[in-house]
Amino acid sequence: MSENQAGRPAIPAQAIPASELYTDEFAADPYPAFARLRQGAPVCPVTGARFDTYLISRFDDAKAALTDPRLSKDLYGPEQHYLRIFGPNSEGLNKNMLNSDPPEHDRLRQIVSQAFTTRRVEALRPRVAGFVESLLEKIIPRGECDLMRDFAIPLPMMVICDLLGIPEIDHDRVLGWTQVIRTSGSSRRPPEQERAAVQEAQLRLNHYLADLVQAKRAHPTAGMINELIDACDRDGKLTEPEVVTTTFLLLFAGHQTTADFIGNATVALLTHPDQLDVLRAKPDLLPAAIEELLRFDGPLPVASPRIATEDIEYQGVRIPAGSIVGVVINAANHDPAFFAEPDRLDVCRERGPHIGFGHGVHYCLGVSLARMEARIGIGALLRRLPGLRLGVPADQLRRLPAGSPFRGLLELPVRF
Ligand code: HEM
Repeated sequence: MSENQAGRPAIPAQAIPASELYTDEFAADPYPAFARLRQGAPVCPVTGARFDTYLISRFDDAKAALTDPRLSKDLYGPEQHYLRIFGPNSEGLNKNMLNSDPPEHDRLRQIVSQAFTTRRVEALRPRVAGFVESLLEKIIPRGECDLMRDFAIPLPMMVICDLLGIPEIDHDRVLGWTQVIRTSGSSRRPPEQERAAVQEAQLRLNHYLADLVQAKRAHPTAGMINELIDACDRDGKLTEPEVVTTTFLLLFAGHQTTADFIGNATVALLTHPDQLDVLRAKPDLLPAAIEELLRFDGPLPVASPRIATEDIEYQGVRIPAGSIVGVVINAANHDPAFFAEPDRLDVCRERGPHIGFGHGVHYCLGVSLARMEARIGIGALLRRLPGLRLGVPADQLRRLPAGSPFRGLLELPVRF
């Protein structure tokens, strides 16, 4: 069946078992499966995963779903949907703006949004450039490195910790916990052990952040954590637990996706040498290229879970109340009804309306910061490492497992 925007037929739901979707092949390249979903089952129940989900994969449906008030993000209401999604020990960390609806969401977002305006973020440029330089100074003399471990992961981590005011001495510990959460499912351990390890990491991070907030209350320092403490103690706009959950969200959202994006973007460029040459010849294209790279292979393939508050219908498929709905951002961003030749990387592509940063009220709060980090970081890699190339064939890159909420690499061996 060919895809076209106007008059695409309504298609009955065809459930697919998660085992068919979440394979090694899917982890390596999910885009053929996304195309099959868009064409054959654009609203598709996936069964047998940790929780059953309806996946929405066409661009127009995805945008509609991300602004549909019948799809709630309030996972902590009376139904306690968070238990199905995050497990029993997660309450402390995930009750934040991303998992709430207006007006709660708007209250939580408004308190931090001032820190992420383009103007405030621009002021961070020299510090971000300094972090990039300090990382490159260490790797350039070696001629090879694991670009995830040595650059893509530490850079956004340094930036967000600096912004929040997390002491440098704690960075490795914090990174250890967030990496357990990020790489969940990639070891050979049984799933129960993996889940236990994630819960343990979440718990330790939760305790660490709660202690840090107390320490900073007693001895205020520069950084956003103290701004959040002021919003709690002085202005009464945040509760004590919300100071911790907001810090966790900013910390996690602030480095995980950006790290995976820098990794994915580097692989995309190194496996499309013609596009790399275009970008090296015309560095002014970088901002547009960053958008194209995000559309081409973004780090958050599926938006965070939404819950249907009533029976709803998309593409003629009934999604019963209480269902979990996943909007497949990376499938929507390859919808040929909206992007010509969507599987082609084209750094000269007109800046398109991709949804790599989401859409609607939960649109990425850190978009300006993410863009700046990616432009400075990827720009420096292209300039300072002229011979940059993959250290292993592209099909041997070790990736996060198919069931991971993130699309990224476990390692990225490169030479230069
Ligand atoms: C939300 C993508 C970097 C903070 C989101 C959403 C997406 C996204 C798709 C919406 C999720 C949903 O609706 O379920 C990305 C990508 C990034 C990135 C692709 C990097 C390339 C950052 C950075 C920060 C950040 C650097 C800094 C703190 C947030 C926050 C939210 C969010 C706080 C929740 C907003 C809300 O609920 O209102 N991001 N993000 N993100 N992002 Fe980002």
